[in-house]
Amino acid sequence: MDVYEAIATRRTVRDFEDKPVEMSLIERVLDAGLKAPSNNHLRQWEFVIINDREERAKVLRVKDTTSRDECDNMLDGFGLTDEVQRNMYHEAMPRQFSMLYHAGCLILPFFKVREPLLHPSSLSSLNDFASIWCCIENILLASASEGIFGVTRIPMAEESAHIQKVIGHPDNYVMPCYIALGYPAKNASRPKQKHIQVREKIHMHTW
Ligand SMILES: Cc1cc2nc3c(=O)[nH]c(=O)nc-3n(C[C@H](O)[C@H](O)[C@H](O)COP(=O)(O)O)c2cc1C
Repeated sequence: MDVYEAIATRRTVRDFEDKPVEMSLIERVLDAGLKAPSNNHLRQWEFVIINDREERAKVLRVKDTTSRDECDNMLDGFGLTDEVQRNMYHEAMPRQFSMLYHAGCLILPFFKVREPLLHPSSLSSLNDFASIWCCIENILLASASEGIFGVTRIPMAEESAHIQKVIGHPDNYVMPCYIALGYPAKNASRPKQKHIQVREKIHMHTW
């Protein structure tokens, strides 16, 4: 698969077949991640893989929303009015635990931080954070080219604290997201995308 095809094929998937992802495939996609650009040329990234479901249950402190009303109230609270966007949240929110628990492979990526992330003094203070997302996108694209798909979830603060307690990572490493990967279920939904024309996004010489 060429790179444009992998980019076009990659979509978020939150419903998985009950099928593990082989370790050799996981290694290939992580190796693709480790080839991403990094701000300081060190690629200080580590990955914790949790494929055992009992171990996963110990790590995950995530809940699925249970009702459409609960979801609507939250979206109204955020002031979201776009229908395509609201539909995506309606797909996503009832699956936040199940997608992580049922995926064939759960990867917890970590990056090394030099200074606290949440009060950056300049854009370059965020370089470590920006670089790990280059790594994550490489992983998602390599996965798509291998026929596996998935989703990232940003942990809430209390989830991050719990994960550190369970897996014992060093204080100067941060997990930017969970990465759940697997073989899509036959009926896995892929919410409608907004159609964006590239020419409408290009500004020549001035905005
Ligand atoms: C930075 C980032 C954070 C995201 N956080 C979540 C999340 O917490 N839960 C979730 O289900 N999906 C999450 N997603 C996945 C997006 O919802 C998904 O990419 C979006 O719906 C677009 O769909 P597509 O990936 O199929 O193009 C996140 C994606 C990104 C890039």
